[in-house]
Amino acid sequence: ALPQHPLLLASPIAQQQSRIRPCQHFPNVKIKRLFALSVSQSAACLQNNKDSRILWAKDDFLLTTGFDRVRNREVRLWDSRNLTSSVRSQTFGTSSGTLIPLLDADTGLLVLAGMGDTVADCFEVSTSEPFLSQVSHCLTEMSSRGVAMVPKLALDVMSCEVMRVLQLTDNYIVPISYQVPRKNSGHDFHADLYPDTAGVSPAMAAAEWWQGGNKQVQKVSLHPDKQPKAAKAPSDKPSPARKDLSSGESKDAARGCSTSSSPLSTPTSSAAASRSPSSTSGLSSGFLPSPSPGQAAKAFQTFLGPTSKFRHIQGVVLHRDTHITNVRDLNLTTPGECDGFCANSQYAAVPLAIAGGQIAIFTRSQPGKLPDVALPTIQNSVNVADLCWDPFDTHRLAVAGEDAKIRVWQVPKGGLKETLTDSELILQGHTEKIYSIKFHPLASDLLVSSSYDLTVRLWNLEDGEQVQLLTGHRDQVFCMAWSPDGKQLVTVCKDGKIRVYDPRKSDAPVQEGPGPDGHRGARVVWVCEGKYLLVSGFNSSSERALYLYSAASLSSGVVASVCVDVSPSTLIPFYDQDTGVVFLTGKGDTRVHIYEIVPEDPYFEECSSFKSPEPHKGLAFLPKSECNVREVEIAVALMLTKTTVEPVVFKMPRVKREFFQDDLYPDTPACWEPALSASAWLNNADGQHRKISMRPADMTPVSEAPKEAPVRKYMPSTFYLEEKTDEQKKEELLEAMVAKLGNMDDPLPQESFEGVDDDEWDD
Ligand SMILES: *[C@@H]1O[C@H](CO)[C@@H](O)[C@H](O)[C@H]1NC(C)=O
Ligand SMILES: *[C@@H]1O[C@H](CO)[C@@H](O)[C@H](O)[C@H]1NC(C)=O
Ligand SMILES: *[C@@H]1O[C@H](CO)[C@@H](O)[C@H](O)[C@H]1NC(C)=O
Repeated sequence: ALPQHPLLLASPIAQQQSRIRPCQHFPNVKIKRLFALSVSQSAACLQNNKDSRILWAKDDFLLTTGFDRVRNREVRLWDSRNLTSSVRSQTFGTSSGTLIPLLDADTGLLVLAGMGDTVADCFEVSTSEPFLSQVSHCLTEMSSRGVAMVPKLALDVMSCEVMRVLQLTDNYIVPISYQVPRKNSGHDFHADLYPDTAGVSPAMAAAEWWQGGNKQVQKVSLHPDKQPKAAKAPSDKPSPARKDLSSGESKDAARGCSTSSSPLSTPTSSAAASRSPSSTSGLSSGFLPSPSPGQAAKAFQTFLGPTSKFRHIQGVVLHRDTHITNVRDLNLTTPGECDGFCANSQYAAVPLAIAGGQIAIFTRSQPGKLPDVALPTIQNSVNVADLCWDPFDTHRLAVAGEDAKIRVWQVPKGGLKETLTDSELILQGHTEKIYSIKFHPLASDLLVSSSYDLTVRLWNLEDGEQVQLLTGHRDQVFCMAWSPDGKQLVTVCKDGKIRVYDPRKSDAPVQEGPGPDGHRGARVVWVCEGKYLLVSGFNSSSERALYLYSAASLSSGVVASVCVDVSPSTLIPFYDQDTGVVFLTGKGDTRVHIYEIVPEDPYFEECSSFKSPEPHKGLAFLPKSECNVREVEIAVALMLTKTTVEPVVFKMPRVKREFFQDDLYPDTPACWEPALSASAWLNNADGQHRKISMRPADMTPVSEAPKEAPVRKYMPSTFYLEEKTDEQKKEELLEAMVAKLGNMDDPLPQESFEGVDDDEWDD
C-alpha cells in the first residue's frame, strides 16, 4: 500500500443532504463520423488488452492508465513527440477495476479512482522523479461506478477548496471536496492556490479551427471579486474581468502557471465584481495579481499553511452502529450560555422540548434506534437553563432552572428505567434565572453558578450551602471557567470586561481587563497551563474571533487574535491540555475549527477543520480516557444532531500505528477523580490530579521503535525493477543500499511519520 499523505483534506461531503440521485441518461446522441483521419503517430501502449484511459497532461505529455502484463494497474506518462516508449510508469497492484484519471491542468493534481474501489487518491504529477507524489488518500463509503471533476469556476474558493470530484456510486452522487488547510480559510481568497483557469468563452469558432486556427481559451481569475455578475452563457465578447492572453499559450499548464498571468491579471475595472459575503473584510487581496508560476507551484508543493504538528488532524464520525438514533423532541432553543447538551463517559443528557423541563438521558453503551414510545426522563419541572455532569460522579447531573434553582439529580446505575421526579438536592439563593453552572475541576462537590441577578455564587454540594457570592458584574455573564490549578475563576461579561476572581480570598475580582467588543456572546477557557485566557467572541463587525489574553495581566489587553468566520452562534471551545489543541464549534454549525495554541508567536496555528454532514446542535467532548490510542485519537466528542447522537473522533494520521505515539500522549491528568474535597478546598488546600500514562501495556512507544531506513516514498519496488536492463537494476539496487547505509542519523521515527516532511517538497 502507498503511504498516506493527507496533505490535502479530501472528505466526502454531506451524507444525505448533498447526495443526489443520478440523473437520467442523456438521450442518445448521434455521432456522425466525418472523415477517417490518418494516424500521425502510434505506439504499443499498454501490455494488456483490458480497459484503459488516456488524457493530455502538461506540455506535450500524455497520461495513460491501464494494466501491465501481469494485470497490475499501471499509470504511464508519455511524451507525445516520441511515442517509442513511455517516459515514466508506476504500478498500483492488482485489481480488476480500471483507474479513472482526472487531471486539474492548472495545478497538476491528478485524482485516480478505481472502478469498484472505495478510495480516491490524489497525486501531484511531474515529468521528473518522482512522477507521481501522493498528496491525499480519501476513503469513500461506497464503491465508485464513475468519477468526474467539477469545473474550477464552481469551487468554493473562500474555503480553500482546490478541487471537487463527484463520485458516482450505485445509488448516489457523492461530492468529494479537496481543501487546503489555511489560516483564515473562509475569509480570504488565497491567490497562491488559484492560478488563472480556462474561461468559458470559446477561443474560436469551429470554422476557424478547421481552417488551421490554433488559439487558447482565455484564462480567468478564480477570485470571487472578479467573477462576472451572473453566470453568462459563453459569448464572443470577453467580459471585462477576463484577461487578454492572446500572446501566451500556456505550455506550463499542469504546473499551474499561465506564463503571462501576473502582469495581465489586474482587472481593467472593478466592474462585474460580485463580492461574496464572506469577503467583506475588504482585504486588499481583492485586487492582488494572480500568483506567479513559481508561487503557484511552490504553494502546491509545500501547502504553506499552518506548521502545527496537528495540522493534518482528521475528524471522523464513527460507524453507524455506535449512533443513537430516532432521538425526538429535542429542545433546539437552549440559551446561548448553555452548550445545548452534556455528556460523560457513560451518558448524554439532552433537554427536551416537552413541557416541564424534561431531560432525556441516553446511555452510551446502548447505541441503536430509540423506541417510538415516550422515554423515561428527568422531570426538572421548570425549563432548563444549563446542565452539566459532575466530573467525579458519572451519575450525578446538575441542572440550572429558569426558577433560579439548581437541582442535582442522581441517575440510577444503568440509566433511567423510569421517570425521575425527585432531585437529590436543590440549591437556592439566586433571585433570578440562572445563565450557567460549572463544576470545580479538582475539588469534589463544588459548583459555581451565574445568574440574571448579576451575581456568581459558589455552592458546596456536601451540604447544599452557598459558600461565596461574587460581585462586580454589570451585565450578563457570558461564561465562567476555573483555572487549571483550581484557584481562580474567570468570567466574561456583556459589559465588555473579563474578570478573574480568587473566590476564597475576595468577593471582588482580583483582576479586570477589557474583553471582546461584541455583545453577542462569548466563551472563555484557560490555555497553556493557565498562562493565557482564550476568549471566543465576536469583534465589532460581528465576525467570530478568538482572542488571547495574558492571565497574569488582563489589563494589558489582547496578546493575539484571529478572525474565524461570520456566523451568529458563539464558538464553544474545548481545550485539550495534553496537546494544546482547541476545538471550536457553535450550535447549528457544520464546521469544527481546530487550532493548536502555542505560548509564543504566532499563538494560533490553524489545523484542518472537521465538517459534519449536516448542521449539528452541539458537540460535547468526553474525558481523555475515552480516546482510543491505537487509532491515534486525541479527542472524542458526542455530536448531537436533530435526531441522533453520534461519536466523532479526532485523530492523527500516523503510519506506525502499531506503536504508542508517545509524542502525542504525555501522561494525562486523571480528571475523573477528585484531587480534594470541597471542604478541604474551602479551607485553602490545593490539589492536583495524579497523572497517568495512556500507553497500553502491549504497545511500545514510537520513540523506542527500532530505527529503520525510510522506505523510498511513493514507489513500490516493482517500479524500480521492472522493464529495466540488468545494468540499470544493479545500479538501482546499489543506490538503495547506499541510501540505507547513509541513514544512520535519521531523525526520530515519529518525526518522519507525521504528515510530510517539509523538505520533502523542496525542488
Ligand atoms: C525516441 O525515444 C527512443 C527511446 O526513448 C530513442 O531511442 C529515439 O531516438 C527517440 N527518437 C527521436 C526521434 O528522438
Ligand atoms: C473584525 O474583523 C474583520 C475581519 O478580519 C476586520 O476587518 C475588522 O477590522 C475587525 N474589527 C475589529 C474592530 O477588530
Ligand atoms: C427550550 O428551552 C428553553 C430554555 O430553557 C425554553 O425557554 C423553551 O421554552 C424550551 N422550548 C420548548 C419547546 O420547551
